[in-house]
Amino acid sequence: QTGYVTLDSGFKNTGATKSAITFLDGEQGILKYRGYGIEELAEKSTFLEVAYLLIYGNLPTKTEIEDFQHKISRHTLVHEDMKKFFDGFPSKSHPMGQLSSLVCSLSSFYPESLDPHQTKEEFELTIIKLLAKMPTIVSWIYKKSLGHPVIYPQNKYDYVTNFLYMTFGQRTEEITIDPVVIDAMNKLLILHADHEQNCSTSTVRIVGSSDCNLYASISAGVSALWGPLHGGANQAVIEMLEKIKNDGGDVDKWVNKAKDKNDPFRLMGFGHRVYKNFDPRAKIIKKACDDILAKLGINDPVLDIAKKLEEVALNDPYFVDRKLYPNVDFYSGIIYRALGFPTEMFTVLFALGRLPGWIAQWKEMRENKEPIGRPRQIYVGEKDRTFVDIASR
Ligand code: SDX
Repeated sequence: QTGYVTLDSGFKNTGATKSAITFLDGEQGILKYRGYGIEELAEKSTFLEVAYLLIYGNLPTKTEIEDFQHKISRHTLVHEDMKKFFDGFPSKSHPMGQLSSLVCSLSSFYPESLDPHQTKEEFELTIIKLLAKMPTIVSWIYKKSLGHPVIYPQNKYDYVTNFLYMTFGQRTEEITIDPVVIDAMNKLLILHADHEQNCSTSTVRIVGSSDCNLYASISAGVSALWGPLHGGANQAVIEMLEKIKNDGGDVDKWVNKAKDKNDPFRLMGFGHRVYKNFDPRAKIIKKACDDILAKLGINDPVLDIAKKLEEVALNDPYFVDRKLYPNVDFYSGIIYRALGFPTEMFTVLFALGRLPGWIAQWKEMRENKEPIGRPRQIYVGEKDRTFVDIASR
């Protein structure tokens, strides 16, 4: 080996970059976006404001957010030719596979995004187009999965309301979106908006570090988020809770399965690489669960199972010793379900929330002119071997 290499599988102790965007304290369970506590933002801000904060560094003035919303409203339509891609997917194919492909295809429709030396204005427009089109793409994936006609965006609605309108709206009649649903969606998207150098954000950064365009970089982040150990956990949690419910709700049995090293089963929605305390997002979402289900008059038995599971695990030495707590994915699916989303759409909703964080991190990486990501390795393979003709092998 040339030079001195330290092995750090999974980058558990590697700082990949310097960033001014999001602060995590895993021991204390603290999460801040640009210095603002997540608790305050979830309570008092909107998702579009938080997107602006993450990408541009400050909470917007009234003029700035109106200008931002106006710019976005100019670009909420996707190119009509993109519909051919929607029509090409098998109807039951996973929404995350569709989302990753569709986001990457934006680079085909907007080739100016391929220029790594875009002017500031051109780059700003590339960002606006992606932010503007993501809700349309996500809602159309949902509509296509139902075999329903897609609903086009309406500029009279704000960002989140427009998304809900395109998702739950019908061609045949005007619908009004329940303010409880709008508020819950804003809160959930805010809580998912960024999380420093997690797996998918690191993916976005490393793909972008090769001067690859924003759309393809974000598409790579969508793929990384899909994994059940990462964003895919929110879908896996509900599937796990349903399994426990259908198995008679025997929580102790499943907690013991999760502890059994010979059993691949893990408690989905539990544990975190950084948080060795409660994930502050899980705390807020757990409280919001009771609140939103009560307001919507929904009694979901899996919520009771989730609470029982949490209670048993948090009093079990296996989890306590390893500092395993519920993470952002443990309760979020229960709210998504109450809002009317099917389980397979949950991780796509995570991606919709994480989009401004991915964009902010990619932009920071580019502005800081960071070098192309290229880690080394410890070679443990064969040393010197001589070629043998196939006749002699
Ligand atoms: C997200 O990084 C981020 O910030 C991600 C995220 C974001 O906003 O971007 O927060 C979003 O991805 C949240 C995490 C969602 N994933 C899950 O809920 C899947 C279940 N959790 C685990 O797979 C696990 O906890 C991870 C992947 C989240 C973290 O894995 P680590 O940090 O590599 O920890 P590990 O696998 O080394 O676990 C340490 C120990 C092991 O036991 P021992 O070898 O010490 O005996 O804890 C055990 C693990 O077996 N363990 C679990 C467990 N999680 C860890 N045992 C049972 N159930 C679990 N869920």
